[in-house]
Amino acid sequence: MKFPQDFLWGVATASYQIEGAELEDGRGECIWTRYSRTPGMVLDGGTGEIACDHYHRYPQDIALMKDVGVDAYRFSISWPRILPQGVGQINEAGLDFYSRLVDEMLIKGIQPWATLYHWDLPQALQDRGGWANPEIVDWFADYTEIVVKALWDRVKGWITLNEPWCSAFLGYEIGRHAPGIQDPVQAYRAAHHLLLSHGAAIPILRQHAPTALHGITLNLCPQQPGTDKPEDIKAAALAEANANAWFLDPIYKGTYPANLVEHLRPILDGLDLDEIKKAAVPIDFLGINYYMRWMVVADPENPSRWKSYSHEGDWTDMGWEIYPEGLRAELVRVENEYHPGAIYITENGAAFPEPETVEGDVLEDPRRVAFYQGYLTACGEAIEEGVPLKGYFAWSFMDNFEWGYGYTKRFGLFHVDYQTQRRTPKRSALYYQTLLKTGQV
Ligand code: FCB
Repeated sequence: MKFPQDFLWGVATASYQIEGAELEDGRGECIWTRYSRTPGMVLDGGTGEIACDHYHRYPQDIALMKDVGVDAYRFSISWPRILPQGVGQINEAGLDFYSRLVDEMLIKGIQPWATLYHWDLPQALQDRGGWANPEIVDWFADYTEIVVKALWDRVKGWITLNEPWCSAFLGYEIGRHAPGIQDPVQAYRAAHHLLLSHGAAIPILRQHAPTALHGITLNLCPQQPGTDKPEDIKAAALAEANANAWFLDPIYKGTYPANLVEHLRPILDGLDLDEIKKAAVPIDFLGINYYMRWMVVADPENPSRWKSYSHEGDWTDMGWEIYPEGLRAELVRVENEYHPGAIYITENGAAFPEPETVEGDVLEDPRRVAFYQGYLTACGEAIEEGVPLKGYFAWSFMDNFEWGYGYTKRFGLFHVDYQTQRRTPKRSALYYQTLLKTGQV
């Protein structure tokens, strides 16, 4: 499998997961600052206080990326570093940090790809309702304008939001992510305002950075019926609408999927669903984060929802099934149904159990190497079938704070020893390095 010459190869991270320096240089609290310090919320009690200390070690980290030979680095900007209260007073030290970070990439010949929101909402805004409050559309637009005015000349790819499904549903309905709310009404409001915020931000990005590429990143997970019973097929169709179409349809068609709208009333009462056409602004690319498919069956005890589980087979440390064919099929389906013009895989990767400390110079991770081989082959097949897949960002550059799992899940191409902050390449980093030289999976 050989990739096109101009295919963009990258690695990805997110601010809260790697930066540390959580309250340094004027950064405000974010919802994860609060949530991770609430006992019982994060598996090992981990927080983002130090994380990978990337805030101080970014030159070394960028140098490692250069060694691997990546074309691009997808990072995220921490809203409370720029606006500690979410709105109002700008923290110049925060803008400075990202300016230096981006310059460091450019010196090393690496394209900066910035995500504006990867889950670290300023706590001050959560105190006013967070994503469930319609005012957030303006708050996000103001924040976007501040960032793009500072970095417009250097950032190549702009991503408004990372995985709004997770922000809305893990954050406000299931409660397994910050802010830890369990209320479907707030969750669908959050989803609505996330989509409108995306719609509001894109024209601002275009105005100030007209030559850059602009898009959004969705976590797409195919939802397949666990049996061929009619109730399970129906449950899977609803799960599919919730997981994927709830975001894809607004962005590309300006509407919500009718089957779920019908099913959800009265949860949606009071929301102006028609307003969602404002989310359908032209974008340059769709970012897809792909990790797993879910099997779905009806839940007789909870007819308003459904039950999801991983198909039997080979699983990662997250309990996610390894099934590259799912990615190929999803890419083809999205291209056929939505014609996004250009697609980037903005995250794909796997956690496997690994030691906290490494002795030698390389950590052997044969399962991750096989994972990348499998999923990249699926990407290549999709390209051969005509999918306009333009690039791939491995998740993640290094081990980091895996949200509700704390530091117990390791996704990195580089191992991080959290006691010493030593980075050690895993075999998968060297595999990726060779692949980037040859374009050959
Ligand atoms: C995605 C997130 C990313 C990381 C991976 C494993 O859902 O965007 O931050 O946690 O999962």
